[in-house]
Amino acid sequence: MGEGTAEGQPVWDGRVILCTERLKLRTFLEADLPHYAALNADLEVMRYLGGHALSRADSDTIASAAQRSFATTGVGKVAVERAADGVFLGMCGLSVEPWYPDDLEIGWRLARQFWGRGYASEAATAWMGYAFEVLDAPRVISVADVPNRRSIAVMQRIGLSLDHYATLADGNETFEAAIYALPAAAWRAAHARP
Ligand SMILES: CC(C)(COP(=O)(O)OP(=O)(O)OC[C@H]1O[C@@H](n2cnc3c(N)ncnc32)[C@H](O)[C@@H]1OP(=O)(O)O)[C@@H](O)C(=O)NCCC(=O)NCCS
Repeated sequence: MGEGTAEGQPVWDGRVILCTERLKLRTFLEADLPHYAALNADLEVMRYLGGHALSRADSDTIASAAQRSFATTGVGKVAVERAADGVFLGMCGLSVEPWYPDDLEIGWRLARQFWGRGYASEAATAWMGYAFEVLDAPRVISVADVPNRRSIAVMQRIGLSLDHYATLADGNETFEAAIYALPAAAWRAAHARP
């Protein structure tokens, strides 16, 4: 019963799933929540994620859902910590989204002061390896607003290619999405050991 208490609250266990050169990819700790709320309240971070600042309650709800998802299904968009000093940078991970229920989606969201250092690409590369090597996913996709240049650059940097464009609904709103994808065979070819 790793998924939570009787009240349905997640367990904020900070379980380390993957380590990279500079990062720990782990489930959330309760201490992350105010930091996560701060980045979710930053309009520049939220520009292509609905464009509205999230409240602390809404931010906590997203973290809770990701934490419960990870505990129950083994995937979730969870925390990114800088290994050198334990600073919470944001989130990265895998999820199944209603738009494409047969695919694993990879996503990322970092506090603005940590952009431009390669952390999102480093975290995402590790989660791609997890998707293919641990979960045996047939492919991984990523979905972004067409003008979200930084997010699409991460997709391209980690090896995904444009699959198609689509108009997707997010609540009552729609947005023009670019869907990038990487099939397992292409990932294996790029990561084949000699
Ligand atoms: C999307 C997002 C995570 C991308 O962040 P990012 O900092 O651009 O991406 P990375 O962490 O991979 O960093 C890449 C940059 O770091 C630079 N960099 C510096 N040091 C580096 C290093 N050691 N290794 C790799 N890259 C490094 C790269 O050259 C690149 O720079 P550039 O932006 O000038 O091309 C960030 O913009 C974000 O959180 N946006 C808001 C939320 C969002 O829109 N999420 C996606 C929804 S679909």
